Amino acid sequence: MGAPGPVLGIETSCDETAAGVVGPDGRILSNVVFSHTVHAAYGGVVPELASREHAGRLPAIVNQALDQAGIGIGDLAGIAVTAGPGLVGCLLVGVAFARAVAKVRNIPLLPVNHLEGHAHTPAMTDPAIDYPHLVLIASGGHTSLVLVEKVGVFRLLGQTRDDAAGEALDKVGKWMGYDYPAGPALDQAGEHGNPNAVAFPRAKFEGQGYDFSFSGVKTAAAQDWEQRQSGKRPPIDRADWVASFETAIVDALCDSLFRAAGDFSIRTVALAGGVARNSRWRRMVSAWAEHTGRKAVVPPPDLCADNGAMIAGVGLYQWRPDMGDASGVDAVPNWELGKPMPVGV
Ligand code: KG4
Ligand code: ZN
Repeated sequence: MGAPGPVLGIETSCDETAAGVVGPDGRILSNVVFSHTVHAAYGGVVPELASREHAGRLPAIVNQALDQAGIGIGDLAGIAVTAGPGLVGCLLVGVAFARAVAKVRNIPLLPVNHLEGHAHTPAMTDPAIDYPHLVLIASGGHTSLVLVEKVGVFRLLGQTRDDAAGEALDKVGKWMGYDYPAGPALDQAGEHGNPNAVAFPRAKFEGQGYDFSFSGVKTAAAQDWEQRQSGKRPPIDRADWVASFETAIVDALCDSLFRAAGDFSIRTVALAGGVARNSRWRRMVSAWAEHTGRKAVVPPPDLCADNGAMIAGVGLYQWRPDMGDASGVDAVPNWELGKPMPVGV
């Protein structure tokens, strides 16, 4: 049985305070995101500041999401909230808020895994998507290649062994002088550059699994940039340098994704997470799909970055009338995708 009304989704796992509403048919009715600006000067997310931002802004963001959806809080059939993974203080703000609303309104509270939210965005983009399909989630905190066997059933094929793809982009961008997060600025800076101007390393593993590693290319890029600034290496056009660095990252992402598509004979591949906003990566995957007769699902930029609608979307398919007592739901900072929510942690 599906939810008899709209579901609200709340997302506060990192540095976006977000709320979104989906209708009982899965349509996105609103998706309001506030990206914290306080972290820019620190070169990364400051957990304590992020928790305070969430606590101060969440009520207004939820109200906006309800207003834009054209509904009141009494119309909700359920409330979904990111319970993990993420920063514990940040998760707690969303979970406490959602628990209170669920209890007062007497509606089901649906704890959602943040990565499951990202993994569901391709199906929200294309409700007729084939199963199984592959989703590569690349963000500031995660790089995970996931086989989606059917709605809500995931197999993790590979993940990063060190830095996330977005983390490597953000750190190198920071050394170049860009504000956090540097991904969008690098995307623009490298737009017309030559991707073959600098040969950055690509990590390779024994046994050809689907894992990733970005700390090697991050360190190589940091050294190369420093040497070009200090005159130890010849200067190079900034657009060419950025295009080469970005290409090293997206090549590594594509390598695992494309190999897995071949190995598992998968016709549909999809991107998710903030790095999926990258225009070079989107172009590369779409071109490959066209060339190989496959389908690429690339969600719109607003659904790629952290948002509440993706959490509401998962809450919608998890909705049951007998969800039980909301007080058992807690923040789970290390909740793994595909595992049931650990209780009593
Ligand atoms: O999914 P997300 O909003 O938050 C996390 O869960 O981390 O992803 C944020 C990441 C950051 O590393 C940011 O630099 C990156 O996504 N990002 C981009 C672009 N837009 C955001 N990276 C490359 N190109 C972009 N256009
Ligand atoms: Zn995320």
